[in-house]
Amino acid sequence: MIRLTELAHERWRAVLRPGDMVVDATVGNGHDTLVLARLVGPTGRVIGFDIQPDALFAARQRLDDAGFLDARLYFDDHRKIAEFVTDPVRVVCFNLGYLPGGNKSITTRVDSTLDAIGAAAQVLVPGGLITVIGYRGHAGGAAETDAVRDQLNSMVEFAVEKIPGSESPVSPVLFVAAKRD
Ligand SMILES: C[S@@+](CC[C@H](N)C(=O)[O-])C[C@H]1O[C@@H](n2cnc3c(N)ncnc32)[C@H](O)[C@@H]1O
Repeated sequence: MIRLTELAHERWRAVLRPGDMVVDATVGNGHDTLVLARLVGPTGRVIGFDIQPDALFAARQRLDDAGFLDARLYFDDHRKIAEFVTDPVRVVCFNLGYLPGGNKSITTRVDSTLDAIGAAAQVLVPGGLITVIGYRGHAGGAAETDAVRDQLNSMVEFAVEKIPGSESPVSPVLFVAAKRD
């Protein structure tokens, strides 16, 4: 199976420059947030959202240990992106589902995920990316992934790629939505 997280990181690497602003809409333990922080560097700006305090605590520690003390992590629903993010952003990432090693009953939900993707589309610069990894193997995950696909495909200002992790119908899927110039 292709490592979709690493593939997403490659796509970020191709567009991000030091000083850019990025949003991690599902911070979790902060692995993706740290990759983003490294790509935009000390002059960049990193904003993250999660609804689980334990996850944010772990992510904060990870970022602080790496020297990214200015990353802003919000204990809030990612559907509030528009409230907290007003400047142009080059990458917004979503890694859906539940926190690995955490409470599997706390997952992203289709309604807030779709709201957040809509909000992300508004703050993205032309040429910027929304990446979403959807997981089809847990309850509600396939429906959420299908809803994400439909929403991204309906956004005419975006070119959308869909990359499944394997041929299995329940494999994770990476969506890369690039805002047209
Ligand atoms: C698959 S994990 C993210 C893993 C993370 N990217 C990492 O590198 O560790 C999904 C995360 O989404 C968070 N989440 C679920 N619903 C959310 C919401 N409405 N707003 C923000 N975060 C949410 C969960 O708490 C969980 O930590």
